[in-house]
Amino acid sequence: MQTVTIAGNQVPAIGLGTWHMGDDPSLQTQEINAIHAGLAAGAEVIDTAEMYGSGRAETLVGKAIKDIPRDQLYLISKVLPTNASKQHMERSLDASLKRLGVDEVDLYLYHWRGTTPLAETIDELQRLTTVGKTKAWGISNFDVSDLEELWQLPNGPKAAANEDLFNLGSRGVEYSLLDWQAKHELPFIAYSPVGAPDQLNAHLDRNPNVLKVAQRHNASAYQILLAWVVSHQQVLAIPQSSNPDHAKENVLAGDIQLTADDLKLLDEAYPAPTEKLPLDVL
Ligand SMILES: NC(=O)c1ccc[n+]([C@@H]2O[C@H](COP(=O)([O-])OP(=O)(O)OC[C@H]3O[C@@H](n4cnc5c(N)ncnc54)[C@H](OP(=O)(O)O)[C@@H]3O)[C@@H](O)[C@H]2O)c1
Repeated sequence: MQTVTIAGNQVPAIGLGTWHMGDDPSLQTQEINAIHAGLAAGAEVIDTAEMYGSGRAETLVGKAIKDIPRDQLYLISKVLPTNASKQHMERSLDASLKRLGVDEVDLYLYHWRGTTPLAETIDELQRLTTVGKTKAWGISNFDVSDLEELWQLPNGPKAAANEDLFNLGSRGVEYSLLDWQAKHELPFIAYSPVGAPDQLNAHLDRNPNVLKVAQRHNASAYQILLAWVVSHQQVLAIPQSSNPDHAKENVLAGDIQLTADDLKLLDEAYPAPTEKLPLDVL
């Protein structure tokens, strides 16, 4: 299985997203089963945020992980821009920890840039690593220019990861961002890695070339989409699924090795960028 190393922790390259989970109480058992199926298949990373369902996703994750040994999990949560200040951030993190039922998260991300001065947010994120509430911190929805600005700050290069949108149908980050992050040893977390059906790149799973590669590997189209994302070095994918069968197959996609010929077919269907594009965000 492919792995990624974040702040010294080696984790399987396919984890579990949680956006929209916990919103519908009638789906709770199924969603907890989906998280369990993903973990049983080998996932360790669970990505959540205070924003998701105003805490409901974190509460669901807390229920799902209550009997799982903490050292088998790599928990990521995120602070909203409106809470990313010295005054509010620790309170936000405390509330996330309470909902998750843990003393500490592994990675705490600044969800997207807001109006608080970047230096204040970063200093507070760094401080929270020293009080045992998060092991590391990072950023999300940052482009190259944001990262360059971040790297000018005293604590900026202590960032442990950047989380941005990346999937076969949205390849803009390949133009320069992935190289920038590799050069600065900053792991990349890919959100919406299967194209978030009904959102940005619906129906990547129906593309004939994707289906052809899937057939070669006796895999599903979704597995090929994920194998493609994590074929990039130091890229972690966090697909979301509320379906236990999907969650399991997604994690197992970390075992699929795409060939040069597979990659060529996928490139033909969805070419790599030839110019800098605005960062896609959801
Ligand atoms: N940092 C940020 O700003 C940011 C923004 C967006 C998302 N995220 C994170 O990234 C995670 C993933 O992104 P996302 O939720 O936008 O999109 P995604 O994971 O690309 O797509 C989720 C959708 O794909 C379906 N799906 C997943 N695996 C499938 C499979 N094997 N077969 C069939 N359908 C499948 C799911 O339906 P089923 O439930 O039916 O499987 C769900 O509707 C989020 O949950 C969140 O944790 C972060």
